Amino acid sequence: MTRLDTRMRRMRRDDFSRRLMRESTLGVDDLIYPVFVHDREGRADVPSMPGVARLSIDELLRVADIASELRIPALALFPVTAPEAKSLDAAAAWDDDGLCQRAIRALKARFPQLGVITDVALDPYTTHGQDGLVDDAGYVLNDVTVEALVRQALSHARAGADIVAPSDMMDGRIGAVRAALEADGHVHVRILAYAAKYASAFYGPFRDAVGSATALGKADKATYQMDPGNSDEAMREIAQDLDEGADMVMVKPGMPYLDIVRRAKDEFGVPVFAYQVSGEYAMLKAAAANGWLDERACALEALLGFKRAGADGVLSYFALDAARWLRAG
Ligand code: PBG
Repeated sequence: MTRLDTRMRRMRRDDFSRRLMRESTLGVDDLIYPVFVHDREGRADVPSMPGVARLSIDELLRVADIASELRIPALALFPVTAPEAKSLDAAAAWDDDGLCQRAIRALKARFPQLGVITDVALDPYTTHGQDGLVDDAGYVLNDVTVEALVRQALSHARAGADIVAPSDMMDGRIGAVRAALEADGHVHVRILAYAAKYASAFYGPFRDAVGSATALGKADKATYQMDPGNSDEAMREIAQDLDEGADMVMVKPGMPYLDIVRRAKDEFGVPVFAYQVSGEYAMLKAAAANGWLDERACALEALLGFKRAGADGVLSYFALDAARWLRAG
């Protein structure tokens, strides 16, 4: 005979007791909205990311207004560099009058309370689309790249960035950026380290959006981004970045790497963020467009999954919609 003195279904019977025993919740405070900014007028849709567009600075301010109104804590900025501004040395990355720097200043002037996160990596600025500077064989050189990343991070900090987020996976860059920020008086600038960033095929639509896909061609980033099979190595990366002065760490991509999020939270107990990347967004959008999945229900479930796995927040292209859905209840 089945023993039924504990019926698990009792607590699931009514909405009130389901709500009372819910362990993880998703709120607007958990959301960071990634935005693409270009040096042109108006908006340009990103075909592989329906609902996402590259924005002029004016359009960016409009989106920031909506995000602030929804009480989304922060935006993550991704500049789309015009081909003629790209170079082998990526010098546009630390141009104090560059697109990213102008966007930061415009955002902070109009919406001082809205957090601005910037990506520290050279891929939008290099002619070859790699995140760093390369030798003649195309190998990404670590130490000279770190020097360039320091210049870029300082330029973002001078423009008013609240959080710099090195997403390049070079060794030693967190310590170098931290030391330079301290020396330059930017003691409040936070570092969100993309500590466990994998060499993933899920970044495809993002590379379309920023135009690094064409530059990159058939090359990959496997000599610096992590192998998708590894988990212990991610813990070593995180330990190192924290030791070098990171305030928070990021796991990226998201959904296929929730085990890494959980381990990071359990082993380090620090603020952990996850990036629901472009490919994850594109998958959900495509299935929804075909009528195969319920977009709202699946997007909210996927975002809640990050919270359950231990993330403190999620970068998501669904952030604006999710905030609206959460508000509507
Ligand atoms: C590059 C960068 C990438 C993403 C964020 N920063 C792509 C890459 O490493 O090639 C991907 C984000 C996404 O797919 O949404 N530094």
